[in-house]
Amino acid sequence: MRKLSTALTLLGATTLAVGMAQAQNAEVGASYFGQYCATCHGMDAKGDGPMTQMMTVMVPDLTLLSADADGKFPMLDVIHIIDGRTGLRAHGGPMPVYGAVFRSESGGDTSDADVLFGLGKVLSIAYYLESVQQ
Ligand code: HEC
Repeated sequence: MRKLSTALTLLGATTLAVGMAQAQNAEVGASYFGQYCATCHGMDAKGDGPMTQMMTVMVPDLTLLSADADGKFPMLDVIHIIDGRTGLRAHGGPMPVYGAVFRSESGGDTSDADVLFGLGKVLSIAYYLESVQQ
């Protein structure tokens, strides 16, 4: 019995830690979002950033990604769209891709460290977007 309650306490602590880590990721992501994405998508991600006045295409409201995907946040698609390496948006779409930009900020080549650094930025932004879904 004692073992069980210890295990449950540990499980609770782990869940809490994971939850806290995600909240922290989202916070970091919010500041990256402000830096890289808000000019078009708006700081609240609703698609009304200052650049939209100069654009001929609609900039989507990113708080509706889950609503548009049967209520489930499309994490993998979002990661791919931001990163751009899958080519999902790479060919002439108006939305810039950021994987290479983030990787080059870490030094410019393709070492493991650059790749991880880039992925971390992409992920934290994706967590931020997940946290602002309506
Ligand atoms: C120059 C303006 C611009 C910037 C900067 C920009 N986007 Fe976009 N984004 C767009 C446009 C326009 C679309 C819709 C057309 C397309 O998908 O190419 C789009 C589409 C998206 C989509 C797909 C939405 C859907 O409904 O399928 C996601 C996700 C997204 N952007 C995230 C981001 C993130 C995250 C950043 C910052 C790292 C960012 N965007 C920066 C203009 C921009």
